[in-house]
Amino acid sequence: MESPALVKIFDTTLRDGEQSPGAAMTMEEKFLVAEQLVHLNVDIIEAGFPAASPGDFVAVKEIARRTKGSAIAGLARASVSDIDATWEAVRDAERPVIHVFLATSDIHLQYRLKLSREEALQQVTAMVAYAHSLCPTIEFSAEDATRSDWEYLCCILEAAIKAGATTVNIPDTVGYSMPSEYAALFQYVSEHVAGVEDVTMSAHCHDDLGMATANTLAAIKAGARQVEVTINGLGERAGNTAMEEVVMALRTRPDAFEHIDTRIRAEEFLVSSQLVSRITGMPVQPNKAIIGANAFAHEARMHQDGILKHRLTYEIMTPQSVGWKDTRIALGKHSGRHGLDARLRQLGYHLTAIQLKAAYVRFMALADTKKHITDDDLIYIVESGKETPSAI
Ligand code: KIV
Ligand code: ZN
Repeated sequence: MESPALVKIFDTTLRDGEQSPGAAMTMEEKFLVAEQLVHLNVDIIEAGFPAASPGDFVAVKEIARRTKGSAIAGLARASVSDIDATWEAVRDAERPVIHVFLATSDIHLQYRLKLSREEALQQVTAMVAYAHSLCPTIEFSAEDATRSDWEYLCCILEAAIKAGATTVNIPDTVGYSMPSEYAALFQYVSEHVAGVEDVTMSAHCHDDLGMATANTLAAIKAGARQVEVTINGLGERAGNTAMEEVVMALRTRPDAFEHIDTRIRAEEFLVSSQLVSRITGMPVQPNKAIIGANAFAHEARMHQDGILKHRLTYEIMTPQSVGWKDTRIALGKHSGRHGLDARLRQLGYHLTAIQLKAAYVRFMALADTKKHITDDDLIYIVESGKETPSAI
């Protein structure tokens, strides 16, 4: 059987993720995350922005020296000093990558960088060529690509490829794009940039309008073969594309994505998510796809009944495939007798129909006063057989 086409996973939890307010990590914490990213089998770890601070430089250098298995990238502005610092930081990696970026939208060129389009073009050409003289693998990112003039963007990307870029990234820096537009931009670049067929096109999205995953998947359909993602969707402002969402969309809907896959070990998602959340102090919302506490929990009577009869009624992937032990039958005021019985059996209580009916009445009385019914509550309900504990 032919093996599926692969999309490379470029993880930027340690760079764009760390740019999230309040998410700063110590060097040892970054190293723990990098090790977990290797367990996940990510292709490229963007370890940081070496020119941003001495601490970042040391962290990237240590990760590059100690991490085996994934390529290690460092981010650099399009300047000699940034590229030198980045090369010094990543050069000891098994597979080093220098990631050079410059904004290409008129908004950024005019107001922030004070560069003409022609000056920016020359800077990209010179700096990508310089980076390539140091390191064989170069990614070039056209920051704010989605708000750039498409024709000009293509000139820039073509110049970057000629100068030695091996990956060209087309970021939706401010999360502005709609999926159909983002796909159309990738299509346009494929058709208008000479040499693009010999390099990897990469997608990098932010979630300002909640479109990051949809945009990333649209880009894959339009030819992107690298996606830039973070664990838990951590990242600037509303965050970056969540790795777990993209990987599981491809795995769960191979029919929708021409069987394109990644090399990711999805069973490591929950552990990775909990590690990043613990280290950064940024909690994961309970209803977050894949790794939220409620992602595989069922409270409503009808859903519990369905799940207990056949898992496929309300689950499109198994909890085990992403690292959870099992489906969770959550008990609350919406739960039915079947759900209660199933949980009691898991706790070792096999009640007769009459006992269950009585226990259910006591359970509902408690559920009306309490948001979460714990196992201790259930044990109390069965053991006491008469009273319910006071509401919390
Ligand atoms: O969002 C963005 O444009 C970036 C680039 C530096 C790749 O993070
Ligand atoms: Zn970004």
